[in-house]
Amino acid sequence: MGWKTLDDMELDGKTVLTRVDINVPIEDGKVTDTTRIDRILPTIRDILGAGGKPVLLAHFGRPKGARVPEMSLQIVRPALEAALGVPVRFAEDCIGGPAKEAVAALPAGEVLLLENTRYHAAETTNDPVFAASLAALGQVYCNDAFSAAHRAHASTEAVAKLLPSCAGRLMQAELSALEAALGDPARPVTAVVGGAKVSTKLDLLGNLVAKVDRLVIGGGMANTFLAAQGVAIGKSLAEHEMTGTASEIMAEAEAAGCRIILPVDIVVAREFAAGAAHETLPVDACPEDAMILDAGPDTVAAVAETLQSSKTLIWNGPLGAFEIAPFDAATNAAAQAAAGLTRDGALTSVAGGGDTVAALNQAGAADDFTYISTAGGAFLEWMEGKTLPGVAVLES
Ligand code: 3PG
Ligand code: MG
Repeated sequence: MGWKTLDDMELDGKTVLTRVDINVPIEDGKVTDTTRIDRILPTIRDILGAGGKPVLLAHFGRPKGARVPEMSLQIVRPALEAALGVPVRFAEDCIGGPAKEAVAALPAGEVLLLENTRYHAAETTNDPVFAASLAALGQVYCNDAFSAAHRAHASTEAVAKLLPSCAGRLMQAELSALEAALGDPARPVTAVVGGAKVSTKLDLLGNLVAKVDRLVIGGGMANTFLAAQGVAIGKSLAEHEMTGTASEIMAEAEAAGCRIILPVDIVVAREFAAGAAHETLPVDACPEDAMILDAGPDTVAAVAETLQSSKTLIWNGPLGAFEIAPFDAATNAAAQAAAGLTRDGALTSVAGGGDTVAALNQAGAADDFTYISTAGGAFLEWMEGKTLPGVAVLES
């Protein structure tokens, strides 16, 4: 790997500008999921342990250059302090007088959190002058925000060019998990891709058919593939204008030796509601007035069999309408199959992106996966084979 880590840096007595992603969900002013906070603790602790002073740079929401009070990182500070167990100070701005004074006053052994970088429009334009104001605060830059690395922003990209830079522990863990899943994986590799739309995952599917040995397609996007094969799908959610594209992807897969696995049986209902009356049918038997809301048990068995003969799994997106029971059954069963194989040491399983983590948590499978990414958009862009600016800059 072509980037430095904390182990390569001189940290003793140094102020370490540390880019983290603590863009966590909030309800009634409280953090409802601390995963992203928990996952940055090793980096902060290692910097403190080496005698460095961590000064945290982060965004929160999308305030678009305005000081939106509901997007103040003050809201996240107490949860961070509680998780870390050392005092976390706060500065009202991430550059200028307030930031400089807070950095100068920071005692060894404590942490400083700077206000939302996106309160400045110059953050998202990757402005070099703004980046220089950030860089002026410290002597070392550490990026631990893989989940924000798809953004070429001043605190993720431009600043890294101005200071000795390294990857933090979470960044290292994310990158090595992704490398194990798609970079140089043990084969056969199976990808599971679900979700509503083919149109939002075109680049993803195109990259995957060239890289993986088996591709399981589920969720609403499977309906578009079934329609492309001439299967009647009734009133199911589908992008009929994308059937040509779906056919092209299937042809590319065939040429590349990637086996596409689509539903062989389906669970249909007449309404999209929890507990709606439903029936399980062969894939070609969807009634005209019904919609497909999940894959059936034969499909789950085929996916489980595929996983049994795979060495690596990369998973993004649910197989059915997992938000409403009983249409979460296929997602749950497939996730549990993957979890079991991982527990037995037979499978390396990596998952990430948006709904995926929620679906795997709901299935009770997340803890057994080899690695669950903290990233949404960055995970997807990485799966698409794109260069992430926040990673690329660390390599230069
Ligand atoms: C995320 O929550 O996915 C990251 O923090 C990136 O946020 P953004 O999509 O607002 O850039
Ligand atoms: Mg996002």
